[in-house]
Amino acid sequence: MSNMVIIGAQWGDEGKGKIVDLLSAQSDYIVRFQGGNNAGHTVIVDGEEYILHLIPSGILHQGKVCLIGNGVVLDPAVFCQELDTLASKGVDVAPAYLKISRKTHLIMPYHRALDKAREKARIEGEKIGTTGRGIGPAYEDKVTRIGVRAADLEDLQLLRRKVEIALVEKNALLTSLYNCPAISADEVMAELTPLAERLVPYLADVSGVLGQARLEGKTIMFEGAQGTHLDIDHGTYPFVTSSNTVAGNAAAGSGLGPRELERIIGIVKAYTTRVGGGPFPTQLDCEIGRHLQSQGAEVGATTKRVRRCGWFDAVLVRESVRLNSLTELTLTKLDVLSGLKELKICVAYKYRGEEMQYPPQAEAALAEVEPVYETLPGWSEDITGAKSMADLPAGARAYIRRIEELVGVKAGLISVGPDRNQTFSACS
Ligand code: IMP
Repeated sequence: MSNMVIIGAQWGDEGKGKIVDLLSAQSDYIVRFQGGNNAGHTVIVDGEEYILHLIPSGILHQGKVCLIGNGVVLDPAVFCQELDTLASKGVDVAPAYLKISRKTHLIMPYHRALDKAREKARIEGEKIGTTGRGIGPAYEDKVTRIGVRAADLEDLQLLRRKVEIALVEKNALLTSLYNCPAISADEVMAELTPLAERLVPYLADVSGVLGQARLEGKTIMFEGAQGTHLDIDHGTYPFVTSSNTVAGNAAAGSGLGPRELERIIGIVKAYTTRVGGGPFPTQLDCEIGRHLQSQGAEVGATTKRVRRCGWFDAVLVRESVRLNSLTELTLTKLDVLSGLKELKICVAYKYRGEEMQYPPQAEAALAEVEPVYETLPGWSEDITGAKSMADLPAGARAYIRRIEELVGVKAGLISVGPDRNQTFSACS
């Protein structure tokens, strides 16, 4: 068994939660390495739905060790809420099975307040559509070197000092610029002190745990959040999240070296969706877009916003193959396309008269490109019960094979429904 990195190859919401859950059975350790509770991973086990924002989806498998790496930003209140929700469904998580890196930066109440105030102040058309969870401001403090780390929960005096220092600047921004109420160190400490008590038993040297796991021949799965085109560097800037979502960050964000990343699986939806602001070349503002939205239940797991829907964009995924060195794809939600007479795939972009195989680099250029489409026949059969490629109609098989050709990587798994057992090998 090899180590695996699971990456969203579009704009997030590709169905990673289900695939991570499924492949967790093959791994001993499951690690989140970036993002925070802006993610929303939906997993259905025996008809019961679990939506996890922060704790790795692998937690639903008994005996697996789930780790939250240094590259994550962690909201202590959300962490405790998720523990409680899991416990209420009978999943009691002991610290032996869930560990947080002491180097993980924390999302503080003032990060949430600033995230919301900033987004509100942005003019229409420039709104990022953030989840408002404080993700960006927490990463900002990390880089500015005034961040609070999980280890600080073990020293409440140091924690208070750090909070006081941070608040000098935050309150100036909140009150003078954004006309919001100031936040006091007392308020922050009142929220954090009881949470610290619950979190401290989960703190660990995650890099050390992973190093030891490798020495013992254990396998590791790295669970990406968001998607490649929301990457802070390589995504559709500025309409991106605040962390590196690409596979390379699995190493930096967990404290293992890049040689440990072996299989790199790009999860792609059989069509494209996007939530929040930003350009989307293949977006369908028509009946077909609404069909995809309703058939695919395309509503954000975190913010409940309706996702914009469009045709599969091979240009974006081709770039994801390169950015992540994908070794295989997993194609999800293929069943949602059933019933469409024809399917289109965007095979290239036209930009200022030139045909492009990869997205243009200039900031506003993606909003200007024109998709070049290829049309394939659709299928009408219900495929939610398919157990192998042979069970799929010819149109569905041809669609998968064409995507593989266009992006240059083979599919490993195909998913035709939300349940664990609605998945099969693309080689079957
Ligand atoms: P933030 O990460 O909350 O700052 O939001 C930045 C952008 O990323 C917004 O457009 C969000 O809608 C988007 N985003 C953040 N997390 C996810 C996710 O897990 N799936 C899809 N989009 C996301």
